[in-house]
Amino acid sequence: MAEAAAPRRYTRRTFLGWWLASLLTATVITAVAPILVYFWPAPPKGQKKGPVNVALQTPIDQLQEGDAVKFDAPRSPNTAFIMADGGGDNAPGELAFGGFVVKNSGKVDVFAINCSHLGCSVALNKDAKTFDCPCHGSRFHLDGTVLQGPAPAPLSHLTWKQGATPDQIVVDGIVLGF
Ligand code: FES
Repeated sequence: MAEAAAPRRYTRRTFLGWWLASLLTATVITAVAPILVYFWPAPPKGQKKGPVNVALQTPIDQLQEGDAVKFDAPRSPNTAFIMADGGGDNAPGELAFGGFVVKNSGKVDVFAINCSHLGCSVALNKDAKTFDCPCHGSRFHLDGTVLQGPAPAPLSHLTWKQGATPDQIVVDGIVLGF
């Protein structure tokens, strides 16, 4: 007949081993957690990327060649658009709070409103058919390319698609949550 197994004994060494392991784990977590939060911060409360619906003052199908219509990011809730590309002061992923839909050479483009020099808002010059920056005199062709510096790079595109009606577009953006 087999003998009953002897009850397991917990020695002082076992206890010290577990205690040291727990202490080491807690120390590592305490040291690493702030680094992880630094590199991958949690998005601010309520902030969420997604499509932003924009109502245009002029429907896209009524834009004439060389026309551009300005639009702003909706404020309720507070939103912004996400730049798709860029250079100079602009970069992919940066935020814009306005833009232009422009019809040029039969093609419709949507640009962020930010000048690539230092980020001022450009305005449409209807007579010259250019986007002009009031801050330091940069000018852009309607296709977004630089006509005159100091802007070092074209206007940034916004990623968009047609909305449910010709006077609506849907632009990649973010709800800011404040
Ligand atoms: S910010 Fe536009 S030219 Fe300087």
